[in-house]
Amino acid sequence: MSIRVRFMALIAILSLIASIALAYGSYKFNEKNALKEAKLKGEIVYNYMSSSRDYFSLHQLPVIYAAVGREEFIPEIMSSFAVVRGVFEKFQENTTDYIFKQATKNPLVASNKADTEELKLIAEFNNDQTMEQKEGRMVKDGKEYYYFAQPIRVTDETCLECHGDPADAPEEQLDIYGDENGYNWENGDTVSALIVYVPIQKALDEAKQMSKFLFLIGTGGIVVLMLLIWMFFSLYVVKPIIMLEQRATEISLGKNLDKKIDTPTQDEIGSLGRAIDRLRISIEKMLQRYK
Ligand code: HEC
Repeated sequence: MSIRVRFMALIAILSLIASIALAYGSYKFNEKNALKEAKLKGEIVYNYMSSSRDYFSLHQLPVIYAAVGREEFIPEIMSSFAVVRGVFEKFQENTTDYIFKQATKNPLVASNKADTEELKLIAEFNNDQTMEQKEGRMVKDGKEYYYFAQPIRVTDETCLECHGDPADAPEEQLDIYGDENGYNWENGDTVSALIVYVPIQKALDEAKQMSKFLFLIGTGGIVVLMLLIWMFFSLYVVKPIIMLEQRATEISLGKNLDKKIDTPTQDEIGSLGRAIDRLRISIEKMLQRYK
C-alpha cells in the first residue's frame, strides 16, 4: 500500500472517530440540558399542584364544611382530588403537552386509571413505605417524559368511608361515579401516585438533529481535508519521488547523465534530489575518466 493511501486511511479513521465523538458528546450535553430544564419546569408545576391541593384541604375545605354542612357531598367543592383534577384540566388547555395524573389502581374516575408503567411505580411506592417521591424518565404513547411522582396511601379509615364498601359511600357519590370502580380499597395500601409529566421528546429530537448535523459537518470537513491532503501529497511528495526514482534508474543505466536533476524544494525530498544529482555528477565524472 502506498504511503499516501496509508496516511490518508489513518487520517480518515482518526477524523471519523473524532466526528463520532463530537456528535455523541453534543447529544449527551444537550440531553443533559433538556433533562435539567424539564426538572426545573416539572418542579414548578408539581409544586403548584401540591400547593393548590394543600390550600384547598387546609383553608378552603373547613370553610366549605362550615358553610354547607356535612350532610351533602359535592365533589367539586369537597374533594381535593376533584379540585386538583379540575385545575389541571384548565392548565392543560393552554399547556397541552404536560400531563398530570392521579394514577390510581382502582379509581372512581376512569381517566385516573393507572397504566402498566404507573402500576409499577405504585407497587414500588408500596414496597418501600419510606419512599415519598420519585422522578425520572418515562415513555408514554411513544413519547419521552420526565416525571415527578408522589404516593397516595390510605392512612386512615376516613378514606374508606368513600373508597371502602360502596354501601357506606355518600349517595351523591354513588349517583355521580357509580358503585363499581373506586371501592374496596384497603387501609395501609398505596392506592395511587400523583404524577406530573414534563414533555422532553421535542428537546431530545432536537438534540439528535443537532448531533446528526455536527456529524454531517464533520464528515464533510473530513472529505474536503482528504482531498486537500491527496492534492498536497501528489504535488509535493508523490510526483517528485516518482521523478527521482526514474532519474535514479536512468543513472544506474548510465542514461541522461548530463541532464541536471531539478529539485527546487528545500525539504527532505529536495535534499534527496540534490544527493542523487551529486551521485549523477560523480558517476558522469567517473565514466569520463575511464573513457
Ligand atoms: C367524602 C368522600 C371521600 C373521602 C372521605 C375520600 N375520597 Fe378520595 N375521592 C372521592 C371522590 C368523589 C373522588 C373523585 C374526584 C374526582 O371527581 O376527581 C376521589 C378521588 C380520589 C383519588 C383519585 C382516584 C380516583 O378514584 O378517581 C384518590 C387517589 C383518592 N380519592 C384518595 C383518597 C384518600 C387517600 C382518602 C383519604 C385520605 C380519600 N380519597 C378520601 C371521595 C372521597
